[in-house]
Amino acid sequence: MSLNKANIVLGVTGGIAAYKAPEIVRRLIDKGASVRVVMTASACDFVKPLVFQAVSGHPVGVDLLDEAAEAAMGHIELARWADAVLVAPATANTLARMTAGAADDLLTTICLATRAPCWVAPAMNSVMWEHPATATNITTLQSRGVRVLGPGIGSQACGETGAGRLLEPDDIVSSLEQQFAAAGEERVLMDAKDACVVNAEPMLLADSHVLITAGPTREALDPVRFLTNHSSGKMGFALAEAAVDAGASVTLIAGPVRLETPGGVTRIDVVSALDMHKAVLRHAPNNDIFISVAAVADYRVAKQQAHKIKKSEGEMTLQMVRNPDILAEVAALEARPFCVGFAAETKDLDIYARGKLTKKNLDMIVGNLVGQATGGFNTDDNAVEVYWPNDGYASFASRSKRLLANDLITLLSQRYRAHQDPVN
Ligand code: C5P
Repeated sequence: MSLNKANIVLGVTGGIAAYKAPEIVRRLIDKGASVRVVMTASACDFVKPLVFQAVSGHPVGVDLLDEAAEAAMGHIELARWADAVLVAPATANTLARMTAGAADDLLTTICLATRAPCWVAPAMNSVMWEHPATATNITTLQSRGVRVLGPGIGSQACGETGAGRLLEPDDIVSSLEQQFAAAGEERVLMDAKDACVVNAEPMLLADSHVLITAGPTREALDPVRFLTNHSSGKMGFALAEAAVDAGASVTLIAGPVRLETPGGVTRIDVVSALDMHKAVLRHAPNNDIFISVAAVADYRVAKQQAHKIKKSEGEMTLQMVRNPDILAEVAALEARPFCVGFAAETKDLDIYARGKLTKKNLDMIVGNLVGQATGGFNTDDNAVEVYWPNDGYASFASRSKRLLANDLITLLSQRYRAHQDPVN
């Protein structure tokens, strides 16, 4: 399924980014699509319907109860006509109304009345985007099969910097084009297997090779005992799955965890930090991106005992030696991949995470506070702060690790591309 000859309903909602929406119409028409624009009442305060009528070549729907418009193509007809509904920009308010199943204007009514797949391209102030209410709405919409394009990260009309910018019209249309093709295949599969629609991420990492480490390591004391940590491996496995969805070839080097290997991932199981070190250094040169999520033990015992250590009276002292810093070593390679680290801290997250970014010479670091309610080790949800050189920063409020993985892969692919091609 391509956008050529596809019928697209473009929903435009009332944010400042609405000024970019006529460009989206033009790009869709360039791809051969037929576009009908539906605006919310507040969108009309930003851009006149006449602009959309001129670029789309069709009357614009605004009012659910407009007799003339209903006579031309009524809301149910539009909902049936659509091969896809794209809401761009999608404000926090429209996302909330869509989540609630509201049908209080033409756009939300079409979203409810259509069987066509639906995409939203959120655009809002970064604090609104990070608000748990918006995060929960996005999670709910995604669980119903709505696909989310962006938002982008950068400076915003309101003066904030962070996540919440509408993606560029070109990026919206190319992601829609790729996902629309994939959605067509999913629908065929669904018809055949009566299955649910699975979320597909844009092919942001097509043709790239990604190496990921996940989980804890185990440092043996003797044949029956070891030192380890609480890492579950869930974040690294979620990232591996999201990277595959984004089109990457993924190698996952996993410490001891009880998790299923995500489809399409090549998994290598290791136990100790030294095993992980060996496996990573063998694979790193063949990868474009290295994401070091594993909670690697910093120390191992100086001398592992061949037989079970016997208890004796009094205290026992273990002598420990430093393990290699795998990530720092990979980042120091001459032909190094794009390096992403994780920093799990219990306090002063930004100081420690930025410190590691510089000290280990990384391209990006994802920091999270552990040992508290916001998630981290062994939890299903996570909230993170991301840092990159030259004071780059993005914050992601608490959401499921799988959704967070999508967001991190989107950000990572933007940073990776900027790194590859610093001029553009
Ligand atoms: O210095 P710290 O251990 O806090 O840094 C965390 C980051 O470094 C994580 O990305 C982790 O995977 C990586 N790391 C490593 N080798 C170690 C320790 C940590 O690759 N020995």
